[in-house]
Amino acid sequence: MPQLFRSEALPGLHVWTAPEPVPLWMAMEALQRRELPPPFWAHVWPGSLALARHLETRQLEGVRVLDFACGGAVAGIAAARRGALVEANDIDSLALEVSRLNAELNAVTLQLSGEDLIGTDAGWPLVLVGDVFYEAPLVARLVPWLDQLVARGAEVLVGDPGRQFFPKHRVHLVAQYDVACLPAWDSVNDRPATVWRWRAR
Ligand SMILES: C[S@@+](CC[C@H](N)C(=O)[O-])C[C@H]1O[C@@H](n2cnc3c(N)ncnc32)[C@H](O)[C@@H]1O
Repeated sequence: MPQLFRSEALPGLHVWTAPEPVPLWMAMEALQRRELPPPFWAHVWPGSLALARHLETRQLEGVRVLDFACGGAVAGIAAARRGALVEANDIDSLALEVSRLNAELNAVTLQLSGEDLIGTDAGWPLVLVGDVFYEAPLVARLVPWLDQLVARGAEVLVGDPGRQFFPKHRVHLVAQYDVACLPAWDSVNDRPATVWRWRAR
C-alpha cells in the first residue's frame, strides 16, 4: 500500500511513497519479463528534500524551472508552490505517473516530460538536479551539460547528500539541512542533505 510522506521541514507538502521500496522492486522484477528501472519514484530522496527546503526561501513567481530526473517531483512541487512554472522530467514513465499524482495531491500543476533532456536547452532560468550522482555513466553525461547550462546563464541547483560520484569541486555550498528521510534503501540518511550551486568553469 502506498503511504503519504510528510516532512516537518516542509509543512503542507506531502507525496506518495512506498513504505518498502526494495520489496516493491523485487516484486516488479518478478512480475516483468523485460527489466524495469528500479522504483526510485517510490522513495523521497534527501537531494530533493534539501532542494525543496531551500526553495521555500525563494520567490519563484512565473520563473520557468526544470526539475531534471524528478522522481516523484518533490523539488518541482516545492518550486510550483512558490509560483514557478515547472517542467518535471524523468525517463521513467512510472516516475512521471507518480509526479502527476503528487502534483494533484499538492494542488499544483507540473508540465511532465519523459525525453532524455541531457544536452538540450530550452532556456530554463533555473534547473533542479536532485540526487542523481549515483552512477558514473550518467554523471559523465551530466557534467558537460550542467556546464553548458551555467555558461549561458542558467542557475543550476543540486541536492545531494554526498553520493559516490558527486563532483564536489564543481559546486559552491548553498545550504545544509537535516531532512529526515525514510530509511528505505538509502544508506546516506546519517549525512546532512545539501544544496549546491553548479559553478561556471
Ligand atoms: C535517485 S532518483 C532521484 C529522484 C528525485 N530527483 C529526488 O531527488 O527525489 C534518480 C532519478 O533519475 C532518473 N533518471 C536517470 N537518468 C535520467 C535521465 N537521463 N533523464 C531523466 N531522468 C533520469 C531516474 O529515472 C530516477 O527517477
